[in-house]
Amino acid sequence: MADELTGAAGLSWASPEFCADPYAELRRHQDDPMIYDEALEGWVAMRHAEVEDVLLGTVYAKDPDKALDGPYTRVQRAMAGSSMMFMDDPDRRRVRGLISRAFTRGRVAAMRPHIESIANTLLDAVADRTSFDLMDAYAAPMAISTIATLLGVDDSDHDRFKAWSEDLALEYDPSLPQKTQDRIALVRDELVMYFVEAIEERTHRPRNDLISALVLAHDEHDQLSLEELVSTLVMLLVAGNLTTTDLIGNGVLALLEHPDQLELLRRDRSLLPRAVEEILRYDSPVTVTDRIATTDLNLAGCPVRKGQWVWAVLIAANHDPAVHADPGRFDLTRQHIDHVSFGIGGHRCLGASLARLEATVALEVLLDRCPTLSLDSTAPPKRRAIPAFRGLTELIVRR
Ligand code: HEM
Repeated sequence: MADELTGAAGLSWASPEFCADPYAELRRHQDDPMIYDEALEGWVAMRHAEVEDVLLGTVYAKDPDKALDGPYTRVQRAMAGSSMMFMDDPDRRRVRGLISRAFTRGRVAAMRPHIESIANTLLDAVADRTSFDLMDAYAAPMAISTIATLLGVDDSDHDRFKAWSEDLALEYDPSLPQKTQDRIALVRDELVMYFVEAIEERTHRPRNDLISALVLAHDEHDQLSLEELVSTLVMLLVAGNLTTTDLIGNGVLALLEHPDQLELLRRDRSLLPRAVEEILRYDSPVTVTDRIATTDLNLAGCPVRKGQWVWAVLIAANHDPAVHADPGRFDLTRQHIDHVSFGIGGHRCLGASLARLEATVALEVLLDRCPTLSLDSTAPPKRRAIPAFRGLTELIVRR
């Protein structure tokens, strides 16, 4: 499979080596502004400047119906639904405007006590263990519990939610065997049914939760349709769970691998917001996003044709030495951080403030509760094998 997915220009995108250390591979292409990759069926932009051009450009679309056909296009079409992630203006602006009325900064900020309480409860549960899996015991349950609570999902359904969101994230792997694709289609149906029932219930009996706020969100002449509501809820679950889990996991790993930086943070907690930004830059949970060219164009001297995919490799842009000096250095005192880990432009991440809050609280509570935290040298961290979502499946730590 890895051979099939190895691009013509040698970006071995879905290979175990790439998942283990994409930065080594990307460094080899540091001098190529763009490469054409057969497996990804398109152009790959790796420098900060071109990635910005692609994300801010008006000559690109997200709607997979605008793409030339290919396996990737079919995967994207299957995922698109009525999700704004795959919409272009004016539809995107309309749907995003309505969602933003419900998913407000105030609603996110109000989650802090809950996130703190989850963090403490999770660490209480491992208080008598000398070592534990940080992903399983802390990062993953914190992310799922936060997004599920924000949405208004009952506690008893949190485990089902975790399983659903992990299965749906697999959809981003274009090399999925048919059997898994079929299973995921069933998972999606289950989740859709769950949300349809929740929407129906909130329509009659609104609660103080995000599902209700989305149901009630409207402006002078508009509100979200049932299809848009369901797609939005599925999108929030998928976009908000794995990514945040990975931010916490990648962050703790980076700190434990750089004890001097960890010590710096322990001594000066005011560095915490900067630490979260440096973690996002140094090892972003979302490695890449994509667009479709809506016209023939020239990008960094490369002839991109109408209907071709253009991949913006966010982690490569974050490690572009033209923007971040000595990019492979994890440095909490870095003066200038201009990462693109949440995207930029019209599709920039809607959940960035929630992700930042969760990561901040997760690190804060961990530092307080585990003053001698270290890596377990007998159990190396394990990486997930989905190239688009960079994260760990296991991180054994000692306390
Ligand atoms: C560390 C955590 C996260 C990372 C790295 C991340 C990354 C991203 C990126 C790169 C995009 C832009 C995609 C593009 O331009 O094509 C995006 C979009 C989005 N994210 Fe996040 N995200 C994170 C957490 C969250 C959370 C917690 C939520 C919600 C609960 C969320 C909801 C969304 C939504 C709704 C969009 C689509 C915005 C649009 O299409 O207008 N994300 N995210």
